[in-house]
Amino acid sequence: MEQLLQGKQVLLTGAGRNISRSIALEMAAQGASIYFVDIDEAQGETLEKELRETGAKAQFRQVDVSDISAIDKLLRHLAQEKIQIDILVNSVGVDSWQMGQTKRDEIDVEIWHRVINTNLLGPLYLTRMVSKNMIETGKGGSILFLSSIHQWFYKGDTIYSGSKAAVGMVIEELAVQLAPHNIRVNGIAPGYVRHLTGNEKGKNLPLRNTPLRQQAVEPCYIGRAAVYLASDYFSYCTTGTILKVDGGLSLVNYLAATGPMPSSNHWLRRLARRYRRKFG
Ligand SMILES: NC(=O)c1ccc[n+]([C@@H]2O[C@H](COP(=O)([O-])OP(=O)(O)OC[C@H]3O[C@@H](n4cnc5c(N)ncnc54)[C@H](O)[C@@H]3O)[C@@H](O)[C@H]2O)c1
Repeated sequence: MEQLLQGKQVLLTGAGRNISRSIALEMAAQGASIYFVDIDEAQGETLEKELRETGAKAQFRQVDVSDISAIDKLLRHLAQEKIQIDILVNSVGVDSWQMGQTKRDEIDVEIWHRVINTNLLGPLYLTRMVSKNMIETGKGGSILFLSSIHQWFYKGDTIYSGSKAAVGMVIEELAVQLAPHNIRVNGIAPGYVRHLTGNEKGKNLPLRNTPLRQQAVEPCYIGRAAVYLASDYFSYCTTGTILKVDGGLSLVNYLAATGPMPSSNHWLRRLARRYRRKFG
C-alpha cells in the first residue's frame, strides 16, 4: 500500500516535543515532508536531525506562534523557498501554569492574553494565511487543531478550557467556510498525554481513572490519529470533526453517575458509591 501522506508538505507548530513531535514522526513515516516550528531551538534542532536520519525531508525554524510578526516572517520564508503547505497542524497550546500562574484563582490579565494569543489567535492567523495560499493554488488541503477534552470538561484552568472551547468553534466555522475549496478542518481532543523528555521511551504514567488501560495516552496514538485525519484515504469525507483520544477519560463522570459498573473496575465502583452518597 502507498504511504498515506506521500508527497505531502506538512507544517507543524510546537513539534519540539511530546504530541506534535509524535505527529511529525508519524507523518514522516507516511511519506510527508516535515516543516516545523517551535519556540525552543535546541528541541527543534534535535528533532530535525532525528527526522533526517529516518530519510525524511525536514526543516525546522524557531518561531513563537503567539507573535503575528514572527508568523509573517515564517510565511515569507516558505514563499521564498516555494514550499506550498498541504497539511497544517496547529499543535502549540499552553495553560496558565506554564505561563506563570501560581494560584488557581489568580487574576492576571497578562497571563490570559498569553494563553489566548498562543492557543487561539496565533493559530487562527496562521491558519487563515496558510488556507489563503491553499485556495490560491487550488489544491485543497487539510488543517488540524489540537484541542483538548477540556473544551467540554472541567480542568480548573478557566482560560485554558475557554481557549480550547473557542478552538472547537473555530474548527466548525472554518470547516464550513473552507469546504468549497476542498480544505478539510478537523481537531483532536487528547485526554491526559504522558509528558516526555526528549524521546518516547520510558514508563507510561498510571492514571487510575482512565477506563481503558488505566494509563495516560501515549503521544504516538495522537500522532496516528493525526495521520488518519490528515489523509485523504481515510478522511476524504471528514470535516468539522473533533476526535477524542482519551482512553475514555471524558466518560468517567457519566459512567460513575449512571452505573452499572463493570465488575473488574474497583475504582469505578468506589467512585459510584461516592456519587450515590453525595447525590442520593
Ligand atoms: N499533554 C496533554 O495531556 C494534553 C491534553 C490535552 C490537550 N493537549 C494539547 O495538545 C497540544 C500539545 O500538547 P503537549 O502536551 O504536547 O505540549 P508540550 O507543552 O509538551 O509541548 C509544546 C511544545 O510547543 C512549544 N511551544 C510552546 N509555546 C510555543 C510558542 N509560543 N510558539 C512555538 N512553540 C511553542 C514548546 O517548546 C514545546 O516543544 C496542546 O495544544 C495542548 O493543549 C495536551
